[in-house]
Amino acid sequence: MDTTASKVSRIDRKIKKCTLCPLHKGRTNAVPGDGPIHDLNIMIVGEAPGRNEDLAGKPFVGSGGKLLDSILKEAGLNRSEVYITNIVKCRPPKNRKPKTHEVETCTSNYLERQIELLKPKLICTLGATALKYFTGETNMGENHGKLVRSKKNDGLSFFPTYHPAAIFRNRSLKEVLQEDIRKIPFVLKKVKEEGANKQGIV
Ligand code: URA
Repeated sequence: MDTTASKVSRIDRKIKKCTLCPLHKGRTNAVPGDGPIHDLNIMIVGEAPGRNEDLAGKPFVGSGGKLLDSILKEAGLNRSEVYITNIVKCRPPKNRKPKTHEVETCTSNYLERQIELLKPKLICTLGATALKYFTGETNMGENHGKLVRSKKNDGLSFFPTYHPAAIFRNRSLKEVLQEDIRKIPFVLKKVKEEGANKQGIV
């Protein structure tokens, strides 16, 4: 096995056995993430596994995941080309929002390491928890559908949008999410061209 693959498997194994925060107590399965690990263009980061994800050990396999898959497909993106993970890897009780110390523990031990290893060119954040974690912003209305450079993760490019679950509460957001996700291939192209320019390739 090559080094990236073995390092990713090592993190996955650690996540599956993790007891660093109280969320481990209620889980059936931890959900490390899923997707390609070489030449990764897009990483999608949600909030936390829900009931179906906890049972399956895979991210976004419930109704929100099905909606996400279909919106990605409409935008010409196949789920198999993106790496999907979450801010926290274990399901919070009754799907409550993860607490600050749970976010800090899980991201500092796992998500940051996944990003370092997989080096995604663009990180699409779904929902308020991922938006706040990566960009410090709290206003989704002002920040969705735009390329955001993070102050925290040097050189990383973020594209925040709504969480698919928000559409079940407010149907009018479906078109907004669709429109945002349709922009991703163009935003990715821009980010790649900028990267190539910086390295003197173009
Ligand atoms: N919601 C999330 O944020 N992540 C999942 O994996 C499933 C639902």
